[in-house]
Amino acid sequence: MILETKRLIIGHFTCTDIHMWASIEADPLVRKFVDGKCLSREEAGHYVKMNMDSYAENGFGRFAVRSKTSKRLIGMCGFLQQDEEIDFGYRYSAETWGKGIGYEAANKVLNYGLEHLKLKKICAGVAIENIPSIKILEKLGFEFEKNFFVDQTKAAKYVLAS
Ligand SMILES: CC(C)(COP(=O)(O)OP(=O)(O)OC[C@H]1O[C@@H](n2cnc3c(N)ncnc32)[C@H](O)[C@@H]1OP(=O)(O)O)[C@@H](O)C(=O)NCCC(=O)NCCS
Repeated sequence: MILETKRLIIGHFTCTDIHMWASIEADPLVRKFVDGKCLSREEAGHYVKMNMDSYAENGFGRFAVRSKTSKRLIGMCGFLQQDEEIDFGYRYSAETWGKGIGYEAANKVLNYGLEHLKLKKICAGVAIENIPSIKILEKLGFEFEKNFFVDQTKAAKYVLAS
């Protein structure tokens, strides 16, 4: 699976991405609204492999997002099966933020999920302070469902049903 946007190439993670993914996940800023914990290189490796297993099992996972010009891995965007629900998520290295990359990838991957994977109901959990992420979800048509707490952090569940 390869998706292309103006600035991005989106496809599967491979083991060769582990080093770069580990450097993205080692930044506390990137993890601030995820769970606040930076990943070790070993944990980043598990994450990449978990996604590779998910492609084989479900036909989807979090996908690797690369810059079209540099070919470098800059983040991820995609779907995970979580219990009975399909979760949509994204995360990028901090130097790419605020340039529209998050929305550009999310829009492409979400359309792939709806049109190609035929996903019917997609959920997303987001810390209520994570304004850029909430803006992306709302622009894509996700609707607020409810608030919940993860540890001490207030979060919101958003849902898109087609
Ligand atoms: C959340 C994240 C994916 C956003 O990516 P991004 O590329 O910076 O987002 P975009 O540039 O596409 O901006 C999306 C919207 O947020 C707005 N925005 C961006 N940075 C902002 C900021 N610091 N404050 C307020 N709004 C901001 C943009 O203007 C845009 O809104 P608009 O469409 O109304 O103009 C990115 O910050 C990230 O990877 N964060 C760390 C991981 C994370 O939090 N993931 C989400 C977990 S739910």
